[in-house]
Amino acid sequence: MRVTIFGTGYVGLVTGTCLAEVGHDVVCVDIDQAKVDALNRGEVPIFEPGLAPLVQANRDAGRLRFVSDPVESIGHAELIFIAVGTPPDEDGSADLQYVLAVARTIGRHLEAPVVVVDKSTVPVGTADKVRATIAAELAARGTLVEFEVVANPEFLKEGDAVNDCMRPDRIIIGSSSDEAIDALRRLYAPFNRNRDRIVEMDVRSAELTKYAANAMLATKISFMNEIACIAEHVGADVEMVRQGIGSDPRIGWHFIYPGAGYGGSCFPKDVQALSRMARQGNCDTHLLDAVETVNQLQKGHLFELVQRHYGGDIAGKTFALWGLAFKPNTDDMREAASRRVLEQLWAAGARVRTYDPEASAEARRIFGERDDLVYCDSDHEALKGADALIVVTEWKQFRSPDFARLHAALADRVIFDGRNLYHPDQVETAGIAYYGIGRGRSIRSHATQADEQ
Ligand code: UDX
Repeated sequence: MRVTIFGTGYVGLVTGTCLAEVGHDVVCVDIDQAKVDALNRGEVPIFEPGLAPLVQANRDAGRLRFVSDPVESIGHAELIFIAVGTPPDEDGSADLQYVLAVARTIGRHLEAPVVVVDKSTVPVGTADKVRATIAAELAARGTLVEFEVVANPEFLKEGDAVNDCMRPDRIIIGSSSDEAIDALRRLYAPFNRNRDRIVEMDVRSAELTKYAANAMLATKISFMNEIACIAEHVGADVEMVRQGIGSDPRIGWHFIYPGAGYGGSCFPKDVQALSRMARQGNCDTHLLDAVETVNQLQKGHLFELVQRHYGGDIAGKTFALWGLAFKPNTDDMREAASRRVLEQLWAAGARVRTYDPEASAEARRIFGERDDLVYCDSDHEALKGADALIVVTEWKQFRSPDFARLHAALADRVIFDGRNLYHPDQVETAGIAYYGIGRGRSIRSHATQADEQ
């Protein structure tokens, strides 16, 4: 089928590439000419495993093109995807200006019937606004063209987005038009083999499904972070508790990992936007607000552990910081826990030597060059001259360090593990003090030692 996608961010680029990979004829449109030029040279602007070769192969096969002029691409399409950003505006609501700008563009240039697909994460009611915007532009031109607007939210995880797109666990189609649903069924048929993953529903339920999914996952994380906090206070180990509850299929193993707080482009933004949306409808959001509050507190917790260890005085100390990205397998630092840790360390007068396998360039873009931050080319280089190690992102290569080497490298012999990568016994046997998240047993032992001294 002939598909046009507006927006070449994570969602648009991954979706367009995967649709091309299964044989569709895809045009991706972006108003950023530099980005379009880069993509046409084969440069993929984001780090996403498996994406670059797929873009290359489909460009070479002529099934995937990048343009900045929307006019021709609108004529090309049987289906037009809107996959532009919905950043939070000042009060946390999703800012729809880019979505509605695309709707206006479609309305101004549409000549033949089309199905418009809302892929961006948008507040409930946006499909109606998109429909009204396109209709108003058509009316202004005195033109009558049939079109449908379908809500079809994405569920891509950064770092695993190609896999999520090629092998979706569900495909949500929100529409009241049989023809539009049929068009999307044909489009997604290659991803929908062996069992039917498509769930058809009305537009508003589809829009809410996306927020509900992300808010539920964020809730699981904040819940576990709160349990971790309790575990620290009562001298329990949240990792044991996690294993104790995950085997209950009603709870499940996923998204119950305590850590340095959730980040990324979705959870923080979507929890706030859902809460905002609810309040506009006079609906209380006690739970969502608590999810957000717990996450804000959690992002400061790693630094609290550092402060606790040093009795509040870390001025002049040097910390090795492993991991900058908000999670592994991405170079994305949006809402990353590392940002809060860095700001807090700097405010307290500490220096940082940092290493991330992919996100250093992004960190340079955000923080620039500064005296209290050294960008290192390896995890070992980051340890040189460091007093302590802080782990913020659980990249695979940080999972099994040589603890004897860490013992030799870290002047103060202490590790703050924001992702519970290590076992306290393993670290402490190597003669290094260990702080994890919710690992009350080992944190208590440090407190006892301090009391005895
Ligand atoms: C998320 C959703 O998973 C995806 O379906 C949606 O389309 C977009 O938002 P993403 O933001 O890429 O995807 O990352 P995800 O893997 O969900 O992690 C989000 C954050 O939660 C990360 O900061 C991660 O470190 C944190 N997290 C995740 C935890 O702290 N604990 C967990 O158990 C899981």
